[in-house]
Amino acid sequence: MTTVTVNGKEMQFDGDPEMPLLWFLRDIAGMTGTKFGCGAALCGACTVHLDGTAVRSCQTTLADAAGKQVTTIEGLDPEGMHPVQVAWRELNVAQCGYCQCGQIMQAASLLKDTPQPTDDDIDAAMSGNICRCGTYPRIRAAIKLAASKLGDAR
Ligand code: FES
Ligand code: FES
Repeated sequence: MTTVTVNGKEMQFDGDPEMPLLWFLRDIAGMTGTKFGCGAALCGACTVHLDGTAVRSCQTTLADAAGKQVTTIEGLDPEGMHPVQVAWRELNVAQCGYCQCGQIMQAASLLKDTPQPTDDDIDAAMSGNICRCGTYPRIRAAIKLAASKLGDAR
């Protein structure tokens, strides 16, 4: 039996502990905000937080997540009011939207560790999150807007 805590709720699974966390989240827990893109840690669509740090859930097993706090886009903020989410809406970042939950989770992890990131910090943190629609300029602007909101809140 594997026990993982997803968005603050403890969940148990008696299947294969080597199952990718992404499958568990989508198919067992019913949280479909986290997306499958490449399945090989190459696109970032499946990004979630493990104890607050961005990880690729397609390459993270349930065993890796056992005893840790998993946060998905559904749990980032109960009302969708995390500063990154607010900035994303204000700047209409999404186009098709498929990559965006992963982008937001990656950006939120960046700002937790580096509240006022430079362009280089943003490039380093976000370079593994692919957007086929090319929303990169809006993603960068939204991260800067979220950083300014975090600065104002201090
Ligand atoms: S689906 Fe996990 S990185 Fe692409
Ligand atoms: S918004 Fe379409 S892939 Fe990023």
